[in-house]
Amino acid sequence: MTSDLPSPSPAYGIVPGPAPADPSSEFGVIAHGVQRRFGSVTAVAGIDLRARRGAVTALIGPNGSGKTTLMLMLAGLLAPDAGRILVGGHDPVTQNYSARSQVGWMPDVFGTWDSLTAREVLVTTGATYRMSPEHSRQRAAELLATVHLTDLADAPAHVLSRGQKQRLGLARALVHDPAVLILDEPANGLDPRSRIELRTLVRSLAARGTTVLVSSHILTELDEMADDAVFISRGRTVAQESVVEARVHHRTWRIKALTPEPLLGWLRSVNLPCAEHADGGLLIQIGGEEAAARLLRDAIVAGVPVVSMSPSGGALEQTYLSLDEDRR
Ligand SMILES: Nc1ncnc2c1ncn2[C@@H]1O[C@H](COP(=O)(O)OP(=O)(O)OP(=O)(O)O)[C@@H](O)[C@H]1O
Ligand SMILES: [Mg+2]
Repeated sequence: MTSDLPSPSPAYGIVPGPAPADPSSEFGVIAHGVQRRFGSVTAVAGIDLRARRGAVTALIGPNGSGKTTLMLMLAGLLAPDAGRILVGGHDPVTQNYSARSQVGWMPDVFGTWDSLTAREVLVTTGATYRMSPEHSRQRAAELLATVHLTDLADAPAHVLSRGQKQRLGLARALVHDPAVLILDEPANGLDPRSRIELRTLVRSLAARGTTVLVSSHILTELDEMADDAVFISRGRTVAQESVVEARVHHRTWRIKALTPEPLLGWLRSVNLPCAEHADGGLLIQIGGEEAAARLLRDAIVAGVPVVSMSPSGGALEQTYLSLDEDRR
């Protein structure tokens, strides 16, 4: 059924190694050449991405780059103008109900549910997935506990705070225990403890085999949550890499010594340009972790009183900033 899906462009470096015989078995989400316009605006101009089962894939791009539009198409809520999509092995265009039943979708804002209580929101969602009333009620109670909303279960959803609404939105996405979870800026408005819990929950779902696709502008958070990253700009895929790869290619490091003079002198002697960091340390460009380890060893052997050395900023942030940013 999926063997006719065209291979993605090697220019995007989408999949390392040979393509699997049945891509849907390894990837929970496959998008190829996906496009979508709104009148004269091209929101998604050509996106290729693959999100592995049992892994968390970050969708990263500037404002207006097409993340939400893409996610709506993957969730089966918006039809693409061109391209192919498979979620959990189903095509949202031709098999809309079966594709949608595979997907848990958490929008960036919860929306209004008039006078329904938090519990009723979840029970009603269960009914739309044809779950029995009893199963829906049991699942609602379970998920309200997971997102710490049991005390507010019978309060009207519209009175919940922004962060509480986000947590209810997450619970709603999980009602039918979907194989694919699509989260649009899920950490927006969450307090620090809720962010940590979100990360833990997402990781545990991935460990159980769920395919998770998550967008966020908080790249340090994605550094800790994601396995893979897809970068988009102006509606096109511009890079896809694993987070481990991003760490290896990490370029800017911050090094600090007890006093800057011996460090500056030594860096000059080994011909390594540097820039000053606000905290009195120096920023240097290093090609990967092995080179960093060598440099640290050499500095110490040369008698430089190094007190700290670490990558400056997260791995994904570095990759993001190295791309031509195109906000709109
Ligand atoms: N319903 C719509 N009608 C007209 N234009 C739209 C519509 N939805 C999105 N767009 C346009 O499509 C482009 C992509 O929007 P989208 O919301 O997908 O971006 P995004 O990457 O999610 O941005 P952000 O990071 O701000 O959430 C934008 O230029 C936006 O103005
Ligand atoms: Mg968006």
